Amino acid sequence: MSSTIMVTGSLGFIGSRLTGQLLDDGFDVIGVDCATDAYNPAEKLARLETLRVHPHYRHSGVDLADASLDGLLSGVEVVYHLAGRAGVRESFTSFAKYRHDNVEATDNLLVSVRRAPSVRRLVYASSSSVYGNADLPFREDGHTNPLSPYGQSKLDAERLCLESDGKDVQTMALRYFTVYGPGQRPDMGLRLFAEAAIERRPLTLFGDGTQSRDFTYVDDIVAATRRAADTSVSGLAINVGGGSRITLLEVFEILAELTDEDITINYESFARGDAMHTGASLERSESILGFKAQVDFRSGYSAQVKWLQSLLSNAGRKG
Ligand SMILES: NC(=O)c1ccc[n+]([C@@H]2O[C@H](COP(=O)([O-])OP(=O)(O)OC[C@H]3O[C@@H](n4cnc5c(N)ncnc54)[C@H](O)[C@@H]3O)[C@@H](O)[C@H]2O)c1
Repeated sequence: MSSTIMVTGSLGFIGSRLTGQLLDDGFDVIGVDCATDAYNPAEKLARLETLRVHPHYRHSGVDLADASLDGLLSGVEVVYHLAGRAGVRESFTSFAKYRHDNVEATDNLLVSVRRAPSVRRLVYASSSSVYGNADLPFREDGHTNPLSPYGQSKLDAERLCLESDGKDVQTMALRYFTVYGPGQRPDMGLRLFAEAAIERRPLTLFGDGTQSRDFTYVDDIVAATRRAADTSVSGLAINVGGGSRITLLEVFEILAELTDEDITINYESFARGDAMHTGASLERSESILGFKAQVDFRSGYSAQVKWLQSLLSNAGRKG
């Protein structure tokens, strides 16, 4: 009998990719996702249609913060907890929703996980935004200083998870660094930039473009997340980064080549809550997870741009 896995946030950008790969590898997956209003739920419902046809996928649309999860966890061995409300800027105005989806949902899930006899491990999707403007590279044993309510809520939820380690369950928190690739959320920069380029519109840039990010391809994130379920180490936060930090100005040069379009930029002032640079120390992920990112930025962004071209063309939005 194959083991049963729970993926929270299974209709999200990363969670749906993880779920699809687990199903392909023969696991039974229980997906929990209530398709929140954080962005157009139509994208999530389209993913549900794809997952639902798989005979080994079972979906629950409960809100993790409000429902008892005891029944759903029966027989589940591993919980990948990816549900959450992502995005920095929105968190300054929708504070309560961020607490609900990130902290209260995690707290409530942990109550059920700790009393579920079959669950041996929970892997939590934390974020590089817990670091703020820390010294590069960001080290897990270094300082955390979130610059936004989003970052703070991810840090609070991460602490809840790690405090539960050893209390009837093993836990691990992975600090994801800006994730991109096909399926990326519609509020994220790389998608907004590529949509503007494809539709031959000016793109909006907050700042001067010298800020840099350690972009991480979605399949690399999925690979590291799966490894975190199978290591003997627990109770730790571990960075997952792509390993090659680049500036947004460099991103635009690559985007111009990938789309064969001139990029026009509307400059706005730097956005509140965004770190100037992000870069992961990868020592822990290499030594504990045996993880090394496989996809370089140009190849990964090329895959994302192709996906987006097809999405926009199907929606009649081609430039
Ligand atoms: N995408 C990134 O670059 C990135 C970086 C760092 C961390 N993360 C974290 O990884 C996780 C997945 O990110 P994503 O980009 O796939 O986001 P996403 O918004 O596409 O997916 C999150 C999913 O969680 C669901 N959800 C939210 N609150 C819920 C609740 N209370 N009950 C049930 N379902 C709920 C949403 O409906 C959504 O489908 C998030 O926790 C995010 O904070 C993402």
